[in-house]
Amino acid sequence: MKNILHIISSARGDLSYSNSLSSAILEKLLQRNKINKIVVRDLVKDQPPFADEASIHEFYKHPELYDEHSKQLLSYANTIVDEIREADLIVIGTPMFNLGISTPLKAWLDQLIRAGVTYVFDEQWNRVGQFNNKKVYLAIASGGRSIEGATDYISDYLKDVFRSYTGITDVETYRMEGTMEHGFTPDYESVLKDF
Ligand SMILES: Cc1cc2nc3c(=O)[nH]c(=O)nc-3n(C[C@H](O)[C@H](O)[C@H](O)COP(=O)(O)O)c2cc1C
Repeated sequence: MKNILHIISSARGDLSYSNSLSSAILEKLLQRNKINKIVVRDLVKDQPPFADEASIHEFYKHPELYDEHSKQLLSYANTIVDEIREADLIVIGTPMFNLGISTPLKAWLDQLIRAGVTYVFDEQWNRVGQFNNKKVYLAIASGGRSIEGATDYISDYLKDVFRSYTGITDVETYRMEGTMEHGFTPDYESVLKDF
């Protein structure tokens, strides 16, 4: 039995291609796996807080020093860490905005990734990710199409973040490209043909 976490980060609701592509991935996962639980984390309806001075201070604090105020400031961060911890399969949708991920997705990552929580240091000061045996599916929508050889600031970036700071190394990417082209019609089955 698998637990799924679905992260939504486009503000365009039903018009969003990344939302629809991530939902299509979810459908396929439901067909293939016995599912125990699906948690939807909609980063647009329920926006992550920005990492401000007070919360960053708490991020660096030793857990033994936490007080009630710390718990309040870390409440969102702790909730999303628990969601990742419980998930076996994580589906993340994001639009391409100025070559990168959406703003709420970046804010979510900045709340999620934490030394001592998502990764720890071993005696040689190597980072050791704490979340293994999970799989991430990325659903990316972009108005244009990727150019061969160009830097990939979404998939490569997210793969590096997950590998370096959570230990998740299994990341599969699907792209709905050219959404701004005249007469564009999405073909989800073709994007997911190798799924
Ligand atoms: C602020 C903004 C920045 C964008 N930047 C890019 C970009 O750098 N490259 C690109 O191909 N498309 C870009 N687009 C187009 C979106 O990626 C495209 O509309 C995509 O379908 C949005 O995802 P969604 O359909 O899931 O909302 C941008 C759109 C907006 C509103």
